[in-house]
Amino acid sequence: MGSVNADLVVSVDRRPAPGETVLGSDLATYPGGKGANQAVAAARLGARTAILARIGDDGHGDLLRAALAEAGVDLGHLLVTPGPSGVALITVDPDGDNSIIVSPGANAHLAPSDLDSGLLSAAVVSFQLEIPLPTVEAAARTAAANGARVVLNLSPATAIPDDLLALCDPLVVNEHEAAFLLGARDDPASMATALLARGPRSVVITLGPEGALTADATGVTAVPSPKVEVVDTTGAGDAFTAALCLRLARGDTLADAARHAVRVGAAAVRKPGAQSSYPTADEPLPT
Ligand code: RIB
Ligand code: NA
Repeated sequence: MGSVNADLVVSVDRRPAPGETVLGSDLATYPGGKGANQAVAAARLGARTAILARIGDDGHGDLLRAALAEAGVDLGHLLVTPGPSGVALITVDPDGDNSIIVSPGANAHLAPSDLDSGLLSAAVVSFQLEIPLPTVEAAARTAAANGARVVLNLSPATAIPDDLLALCDPLVVNEHEAAFLLGARDDPASMATALLARGPRSVVITLGPEGALTADATGVTAVPSPKVEVVDTTGAGDAFTAALCLRLARGDTLADAARHAVRVGAAAVRKPGAQSSYPTADEPLPT
């Protein structure tokens, strides 16, 4: 459940300072949005996947729907709002790092009244924060009550109530989001331990090229990432989370699921775009 955005991407040598103009590459338009990215990644990896989301009735909406359909995502709960779809304005620099501004469009209209209890009884229900927080809260509560495992990627970094935090199994954050929640940056293992003490059932901190850390009742586990040549990191975290969800749904421990997920995330940084870079189940993953 989450956002669906058209990603409008320009590669730049460097980002403009305030008041400055720089020239970039030709514009590329990719299907994106953290919710759709996770759904597409999971479906491509072979998970039975449905999305609960809203798109607009514009041309971008058609592109976004087609990308989800092609990946095999169940679209029975892909709702349409009159007006623009979500859009992400993305610049990618020569290191493959991105900066993103999201214009929510239809995503802002995904409401608690859109929720479907049947859908929220999947093995795993995954959330991110590009849709209204009250909708995430209501859905996570329903999902947990239905016995589903709730996975929340705290992106973009947003303050959330303790009762939502307590449902997360795991809470997935990068170092920036971890520091935001804790109010201070520390080494990743200390942040993972401190986050776990805040109430989620388990925690994953993603560390980009360094892989990830998991923390649960069994302790903190470092999961290194395979080294790959970075082309575009956009959506690599979404691919990671999708792979994590798939493996958790199949009964892996959190650390084992993360060991697989870092390889899927590494595969995704090797190609441009988000969904366009996600591997299929039969594609060899980096080791
Ligand atoms: O996580 C990457 C995604 O963030 C992009 O696809 C963009 O749409 C933004 O939602
Ligand atoms: Na990519």
